[in-house]
Amino acid sequence: KRPVGVPDKGLARTVGSVGVVGAGLMASQLALLFVRRLKVPVVMTDLDDARAQAGVARVHGEVDTLVGKGRISHDEGNRLKALVTGGTDHALYAGADLVVEAVFEEMSVKQQVLASLEAVVRPDCVLATNTSSLSVAEMASGLQHPERMVGFHFFNPVAVMPLVEVARAPQTDDATYATAFAVGRQLGKSCVPVEDAPAFVVNRLLIRMLSEAFAAVDEGTPPDVVDAAVRPLGLPMSPLVLLQLVGPAVALHVLESLHAAFPDRFAVSGTLQKVVEARQPGIWSWDERGKPFLS
Ligand code: CAA
Repeated sequence: KRPVGVPDKGLARTVGSVGVVGAGLMASQLALLFVRRLKVPVVMTDLDDARAQAGVARVHGEVDTLVGKGRISHDEGNRLKALVTGGTDHALYAGADLVVEAVFEEMSVKQQVLASLEAVVRPDCVLATNTSSLSVAEMASGLQHPERMVGFHFFNPVAVMPLVEVARAPQTDDATYATAFAVGRQLGKSCVPVEDAPAFVVNRLLIRMLSEAFAAVDEGTPPDVVDAAVRPLGLPMSPLVLLQLVGPAVALHVLESLHAAFPDRFAVSGTLQKVVEARQPGIWSWDERGKPFLS
């Protein structure tokens, strides 16, 4: 097993074209970050053209917001928008140097996507996953070239959260790992080398906090009391408001992965399961200031 650590930047490949698989909220945030910071062509794909074009439109809308805020010029906005395109065919990634998948958090779905990508991308194209909790090694196990696979875990909201966890699987080769680090730095992020362990590092802590907040609710403390009790700690968001940002289904998925890996340390909250099943408004809602209340 190779040790994780900061790689030799001399081994990094140049990335002049990026693919993002998926065109949902996380994928759109990633596409925006790539085009804004790397200023290279970014291709987004999704299952159908309507979803792919909706993702592109979301990125274009965010670029327009940046122009409106005076962060970039009108011309720069137009240049960035022209660099982002979408479609359904993975062959669109044929020229990519890096493809990041941000599709549904299900191992079999991700493995299928990766196999399909490997059939079309160049031999030196890095394949990255934005998974929050699945094993990068297992994801790469069906690939002909698993050494090109790396974990590249961004946080929500992608534009402002400074951290990226770069997860090295046992198969990941030095050039792949170094390329992910170099790109992360060009994106203006702090890259942290992490083991390919369940939920890496950050989500173990974050989800522990969220799940304890839910345990308190499960045990009878009203959610608004949990929220009020935690706010004075000075966290940027209370656990229950953070849940809204992360998405209850994502949080539950990470918690289930951690429960499977460490059953004695992570329990799955019945209240969180109900929130996900109810798809909100469910057990509670949030007012306009982000304060949770029972509905
Ligand atoms: N999407 C995009 N941008 C957002 C945003 C969002 N949801 N929320 C805020 N921003 C942007 C704002 O537009 C603003 O940008 P500009 O300076 O360019 O205008 C900037 O962030 C600061 O916003 P505000 O001043 O309104 O708000 P704030 O100072 O209260 O900060 C916050 C907002 C950054 C979200 C802060 O509350 C925070 O850090 N919260 C914790 C977030 C966190 O822990 N994220 C990790 C979640 S776990 C995860 O994502 C991984 C996983 O695998 C589950």
